[in-house]
Amino acid sequence: MEIGPELINQQQLAVRINQMGEQITRDLQHHRHTPLTLVPVLTGALVFTADLIRSIPVKMSIRPVTTASYHGATESSGKVDIRGDLPTDLAGAHVLITDDILDSGRTLGLLSRVIRSQNPASLRIAVLLRKNKPLGREEHVDADYVGFDIEDEFVVGYGLDYDGYFRNHPAIGLLRAPDTAPDTAPNTHPRDTLA
Ligand code: IMP
Ligand code: MG
Repeated sequence: MEIGPELINQQQLAVRINQMGEQITRDLQHHRHTPLTLVPVLTGALVFTADLIRSIPVKMSIRPVTTASYHGATESSGKVDIRGDLPTDLAGAHVLITDDILDSGRTLGLLSRVIRSQNPASLRIAVLLRKNKPLGREEHVDADYVGFDIEDEFVVGYGLDYDGYFRNHPAIGLLRAPDTAPDTAPNTHPRDTLA
């Protein structure tokens, strides 16, 4: 597989992520004396989070968790694993989970339930992409901050992978089989979502 038509370019990503950072920073003013605990969902949130945090000039600690739900395919395995240590000291903390994409909702549903059970002072979710699911998600998740709403298609780049690859591609594109689809722009334009 290879990267096909571009869906969101580098400039669109930079502008929107900066806006998200500003909005998150504004919302944090209510409790600006308590540090933020950021929980990026690795590996997909790596690139998004690295850019986002540079637009959030507050005291924060970063406590990544690793999850896996796709095993080399473009369809979810239906099972989410949390790998590695999830922070266990989140009681009273202001927590922001960051992830690359809200798809079935299983990953963020599981994580937010596990974190909420520790009684944080607040829990918010920021995702770069939210996939439109005409038939609904497996698990309902409300993301507080959403970069772009996209159609229900498999995308790669900017942290998102197919079979472990393409995460370093600087923009977001559709995945395609080699030497097939013509190189035309897709009919799915992302729409900014103000959350
Ligand atoms: P969930 O289905 O909402 O639990 O999403 C789980 C994970 O699947 C996301 O964090 C991504 O890592 C991955 N994922 C979902 N859709 C895509 C996609 O279109 N491209 C690449 N990874 C995806
Ligand atoms: Mg991921």
